Amino acid sequence: MEVVILPGREAIAAAAADGIEHLLKRKPDAVLGLATGSSPLALYNALVERYQAGRISFAQARAFMLDEYVGLPLDHPERYRNVIEREIASRVDFAAGAVQGPDGAAPDLAAASQAYDEAIRQAGGIDLQILGIGSDGHIAFNEPGSSLASRTRVKTLTPQTVTDNARFFGGDEAKVPHHVLTQGLGTIMEARHLVLMALGRSKAEAVHHMVEGGVSAMWPASILQFHPHATVLLDDAAALRLQLAPYYRHVYASKPAWQNM
Ligand code: F6R
Repeated sequence: MEVVILPGREAIAAAAADGIEHLLKRKPDAVLGLATGSSPLALYNALVERYQAGRISFAQARAFMLDEYVGLPLDHPERYRNVIEREIASRVDFAAGAVQGPDGAAPDLAAASQAYDEAIRQAGGIDLQILGIGSDGHIAFNEPGSSLASRTRVKTLTPQTVTDNARFFGGDEAKVPHHVLTQGLGTIMEARHLVLMALGRSKAEAVHHMVEGGVSAMWPASILQFHPHATVLLDDAAALRLQLAPYYRHVYASKPAWQNM
């Protein structure tokens, strides 16, 4: 796991955008994994800027979303499909139908989940998966207790995540759906490169368990310790509880120019 501590949101976004730019230049038909939430928003803005500057194109690329609320009306602004459309998909040149998400409105959610894993497989798997982390250690919506081998399926949000996400619903917890469809930890672990971004003090405990704790379903993000190519981009506040922070800073400061993310 490469842990990189950067000065703030823009530096983290630029580092993640560099990784995606490098991938798209090497493999224009790359398959990206997109996260929602606030952590990747600056990254999406950076990607749009690079697209507008002619540095990158998504014309041949495809993308799969991590998760989706169950039961939100199709036109709800917080439905993750609509969020991704608004924040990135409609602002760059993805081809029609190139961005897919789990179908939280499907009459048969189990079948929709299986079909989603199959669609990822058919696309050749995800080359680079963007991730955030919940304050309770979830990635996608794999809440504490999730099977470390889980596939895409329905999960119930923890009260902590409902509270955390109420900010997207006008601060009203009663408006946050309790059920979601989410890629499983096993699904996420099949992506070839994981890039996780975490910002702020509220993530420091989860980051500590993910990077330096034992691997446990209690802190689902700790499964990243088993991934052969995981990059964790942190601001100072999110890195506050890392014992080896001086070492991570030293490693990054001495990173050879030829070594990509
Ligand atoms: C969203 C997702 C979640 C978020 C996490 C952090 O697609 O998968 O795991 O990444 O809840 O959310 P923010 O970035 O809003 O702090």
